[in-house]
Amino acid sequence: MRGDVILLIVSCLAIGILARTSFGATVTYDQRALVIDGKRRVLISGSIHYPRSTPEMWADLIQKSKDGGLDVIETYVFWNIHEPVRNQYNFEGRNDLVKFVKLVAEAGLYVHLRIGPYVCAEWNYGGFPLWLHFMPGIEFRTDNGPFKAEMQRFTTKIVGMMKDEKLYASQGGPIILSQIENEYGNIDSSYGAAGKTYMKWAANMAISLDTGVPWVMCQQRDAPDPIINTCNGFYCDQFTPNSKTKPMMWTENWSGWFLSFGGRVPYRPVEDLAFAVARFYQRGGTFQNYYMYHGGTNFGRTTGGPFISTSYDYDAPIDEYGLIRQPKWGQLKELHKAIKLCESALVATAPTITSLGQNLEAAVYKTGSICAAFLANVGTQSDANVTFNGNSYFVPAWSVSILPDCKSVVLNTAKINSVTEIPRFTLQSLNIDADSPETLGSQWSWINEPVGISRKDAFSKPGLLEQINTTADKSDYLWYSISTDIKSDEPLLKDESHTVLHVESLGHALHAFINGKLAGSGTGSSNNAKVSVKIPVTLQPGKNTIDLLSLTVGLQNYGAFFDKVGAGITGPVKLEGSNGASIDLSSQQWTYQVGLKGEELGLSTGSSSGWVSQPTLPVKQPLIWYKTKFDAPAGSSPVALDFTGMGKGEAWVNGQSIGRYWPTNIAPGSGCTDSCNYRGSYSSNKCLKNCGKPSQSLYHVPRSWLQASGNTLVLFEEIGGNPSEIQIATRQTESLCSYISESHPSPVDMWNSDSEKARKSGPMLLLECPSPSQVISSIKFASFGTPRGTCGSFKHSKCNSSHAHSIVQKACLGSRSCSISVSTDVFGNPCRGVLKSLAVEASCT
Ligand code: GAL
Repeated sequence: MRGDVILLIVSCLAIGILARTSFGATVTYDQRALVIDGKRRVLISGSIHYPRSTPEMWADLIQKSKDGGLDVIETYVFWNIHEPVRNQYNFEGRNDLVKFVKLVAEAGLYVHLRIGPYVCAEWNYGGFPLWLHFMPGIEFRTDNGPFKAEMQRFTTKIVGMMKDEKLYASQGGPIILSQIENEYGNIDSSYGAAGKTYMKWAANMAISLDTGVPWVMCQQRDAPDPIINTCNGFYCDQFTPNSKTKPMMWTENWSGWFLSFGGRVPYRPVEDLAFAVARFYQRGGTFQNYYMYHGGTNFGRTTGGPFISTSYDYDAPIDEYGLIRQPKWGQLKELHKAIKLCESALVATAPTITSLGQNLEAAVYKTGSICAAFLANVGTQSDANVTFNGNSYFVPAWSVSILPDCKSVVLNTAKINSVTEIPRFTLQSLNIDADSPETLGSQWSWINEPVGISRKDAFSKPGLLEQINTTADKSDYLWYSISTDIKSDEPLLKDESHTVLHVESLGHALHAFINGKLAGSGTGSSNNAKVSVKIPVTLQPGKNTIDLLSLTVGLQNYGAFFDKVGAGITGPVKLEGSNGASIDLSSQQWTYQVGLKGEELGLSTGSSSGWVSQPTLPVKQPLIWYKTKFDAPAGSSPVALDFTGMGKGEAWVNGQSIGRYWPTNIAPGSGCTDSCNYRGSYSSNKCLKNCGKPSQSLYHVPRSWLQASGNTLVLFEEIGGNPSEIQIATRQTESLCSYISESHPSPVDMWNSDSEKARKSGPMLLLECPSPSQVISSIKFASFGTPRGTCGSFKHSKCNSSHAHSIVQKACLGSRSCSISVSTDVFGNPCRGVLKSLAVEASCT
């Protein structure tokens, strides 16, 4: 090997090592910013929760975050997955926090570790382990000895682990920030004076752990020094910290919102998200975190609730499957570059804010020769031309323009200068396909789950028991069974056709079986978990069995005293006739079974005996376990299962739970729009889609859980479905689009470029297939002129260069990416004196 090559390799390695260890040794803060190694920093952060993806996905998610312009990855620490049984810890696989933090460090990014240990996060029980609830004398999140002792023990454990691995910046590691508690200020008044004492205790306890980096408390106005109080919300530009010595920090900028079973799918337009971010930095902020940057999946029974869906996609810049979401990811990346161009001005001084007219505002960061400005139009209706420093600028409604030199606009938040992608899932059957037996699955086998009591650990008690206290959340399921003798002269029998079983439950759903047959079901909703049903029943003289299967769908994770919210059938339970006759069963002797027989047998792995495949596949049958084998689809694109055709239950692939499925829970039929107006304040129910459809029909199966062939899929189906309708879905990009105007503000890169040539060449249209193995295979649309419409429905207008299609084809076909200058030099001039744009829609294969 040549000497200079060796030198190059050695120096690359050295740079690599440096990149990994070059974290600031000191992290402090002042009134403007976090100060890392003596330098104030403008930081952009994003949330990725490690257990919501797989270790195999982490490096790629982190790299995509870095490519998107993030400096920091934020994660909560999820106590209940790490300590499922008191003093028995689990930091393996998806729970490998240390590995996750190290991967972030390897990418050269910082970490904000939000230890909580209360996390909210749409996570089961807000992250608390259930055993905590059973500790004698415990009261959560208040000045209570047993609670404080456990919280301190776990927090100390996590801090200790991080210290042992040298992961704090003060030790040369990536962690620059930590959080204690979570939004306690939103609910602390419910805990009275004890709440305040607890909050101060938590602050002191955290400080005493001596991490060497600052602590934050979010949504805690009165967070004591030196803890920084931070803001969470859709907008935080009006936020001020509680002391002049603290910087303005935003720990949760909700990039979308979470989905509930039975709900419509929320989304947040990137124009509004970018506006919120730019407003924050305009108004003096220096640290902002997207909650979520990648939402991921609530695998297993980790989802909070009740009724939070298995998907935690969140409309985040990186989607549930780990693919970048366009134009969101790309537009924010441009925004981050624009903000970073202003960093030296932003850290040098506070902004001077002036009004430029109604709803129009300029913020100028100026010291000496350094100057950066933000021009905002916070009006929701009218675009405006503003005069600033003697120049005129066009600022559309609800947008911010960024001028890193106080002169040229490098970015306007409402102008999307990024590609758009239309994702698509291709579906294929799980069952045998005679034409391609190699891609194929096989037949189903099944085991019936017994109705009512079938386990030896069942027990009897008088009266109705609250569910969570009974199951300790070991299972979603609790059977309440009773056998009652109905005398032949019982008045109820006289009016048989009108007899109902009246059940009142705290939630979340129930199925009622009379004499072994499903008589009816009821379910609560994310707004009201309670279930109140009157189910028509047919009774027989003599013995009648009533088996009620009550189930939880994720435990409460938010609100004062959320830990005390109960579930299950607490009554009354009555048989009622229309003639006023009634039998109250509530205080009689009931028999209870926690969990299912199939859970006891470990059917989820598919390995136990007893599976049958004769005579015919039972469909639409409640309480049944199904099993099949299937092959993974070829390629590396993400995989999901489409559970349309099934009812409700849980699914396992090769023994790993992919979560609860519930495609029969349908979103309301109205209130959706595909083109939500981004102008004006966003709220979680402003922009919704998917009306009238299952809230979630696709369920992510991580690639790393699949082998090429012979994968085992097990389902437990509660209410009845047809498993032969299940399809396997692979995520593809149907179309890539880009739309760039001649006069588009010069992209940030160009402004930043040293090359005069690059500056002069003007706007460029860029297209890139999402996967390195793909190439642009066709140009579905290309027009230079004044094309109309949006991705998927672009249309030509009269002003259209006749060469556009062939020029774009020549530049792009067969390559993964291409770039074309958007100018009349390239395309000719189809209409003089008119602003022209290039619109392209391409497909990748
Ligand atoms: C916040 C909370 C987060 C998450 C979010 C909604 O209030 O801190 O953990 O629950 O709401 O997604």
